[in-house]
Amino acid sequence: MKKQLYIQTLGCAMNVRDSEHLVAELKEEYDLTFNLEEADLILINTCSVREKPVHKLFSEVGYFNKVKKEGAKIGVCGCTASHLGEEIIKKAPYVSFVLGARNVSKIKEVIKKEGAVEVDITNDESTYAFNDFRSNPYKALINISIGCDKKCTFCIVPNTRGEEISIPPELILREVKKAVEDGAKEIFLLGQNVNNYGRRFSDKERRIDFSDLLRMVSEVEGVERIRFTSPHPLHMDDKFLKEFATNPKVCKSIHMPLQSGSSRILKLMKRGYTKEWFLDRAFKIREMAKGVSISTDIIVGFPGESEKDFLETLEVVEKVKFEQIFSFKYSPRPLTPAKDYPNQVPDEVASKRLTTLQELHHKQLDELAKKEQGKVYEVYFEELKPNGYVAGRSDNNKIVKVKGSEELLGEIKKVKITQAKRLLLEGEVIG
Ligand code: 5AD
Ligand code: SF4
Repeated sequence: MKKQLYIQTLGCAMNVRDSEHLVAELKEEYDLTFNLEEADLILINTCSVREKPVHKLFSEVGYFNKVKKEGAKIGVCGCTASHLGEEIIKKAPYVSFVLGARNVSKIKEVIKKEGAVEVDITNDESTYAFNDFRSNPYKALINISIGCDKKCTFCIVPNTRGEEISIPPELILREVKKAVEDGAKEIFLLGQNVNNYGRRFSDKERRIDFSDLLRMVSEVEGVERIRFTSPHPLHMDDKFLKEFATNPKVCKSIHMPLQSGSSRILKLMKRGYTKEWFLDRAFKIREMAKGVSISTDIIVGFPGESEKDFLETLEVVEKVKFEQIFSFKYSPRPLTPAKDYPNQVPDEVASKRLTTLQELHHKQLDELAKKEQGKVYEVYFEELKPNGYVAGRSDNNKIVKVKGSEELLGEIKKVKITQAKRLLLEGEVIG
């Protein structure tokens, strides 16, 4: 019998894909288990973008150590592994090894070395051909780049995932073809900064950009939908907007991380764009891609953020009417310039701003929900839900559930909306 592997994943879609790669590399020796107590190897794949998940890491490994079976190993992987390195083993000596976010391909080596710490953020895995494993057969996550070259002053990621390197297009296309052969109709392209694709390859030769890549992926037979995350508003040039809007395979849903609506704060964040540029791009996208959904990330309470700056963020939210907002209180992170900036915003002020922002967003979502009744969406079904429901996503990324069973899974159907809540629509299949 094979050994048993338990894996817990925190953080973003990149981490979800890294966990799939970890499982893939180990699959000859290990089967996946959801039962912690029977696992021979317990992995936690961590996030360090805010302080909370870092705290969670230590409480989780403490718990693993209590309930694990005799002789089972615990390994810490991912972004916090990258930035804390051996400190993790010092603080939690029952951890067997630490494997950084850019060192996933070394998993088989580190499990053999008690106390191993592999956290080299210059390691180049851009041409490494990982073994195959997908947790979702309908939607294939595919990395197109590793690392991030942006130096946003609040963000720890350049220190956990290193410099940006694009994965060669032929490797990406090979993955796409394989995923389609295995039954996936949707391809989800991943990178810290996807629309900067092509800036640097490890062999320094090729010259294609993200718009070219979208076109190439869409030409692979069997691909019906393409999504991607995360793009950067700075790189949303006209060529990209045109490809996004006119390529029918590219889903009409886009993440545009605003972070702040104040150009002064955006400058302190080193985001590279102004409020005006952001609004111009968002309005152009709405105009060119009818029915598009725009989601965003917003940080409140960045050092130096005044009431006036915050009101500018609200103004952008009023104008763009995002379909989804991921909002966060600023969290000072090690190795980032902003943690040493003057005028750190008191927690009560940041909390109040977060509530105000969320209230405005909820009001907007309620307005949007009222307009959903009777609309017809093409829904790609991917998940069974309790009480005889099946859920999927519309082209513009709305979650839609209908009464139904397995036979809808993996199918794209027309659905008429009969009931609408903030982030969940219910409907009936009409064709
Ligand atoms: N504090 C709060 N939020 C942060 N993010 C990144 N770094 C921080 C930080 N130090 C948010 C950004 C980013 C999202 C993934 O996490 O909004 O887009
Ligand atoms: Fe978290 Fe960022 Fe690492 Fe993703 S890349 S796991 S969001 S720190």
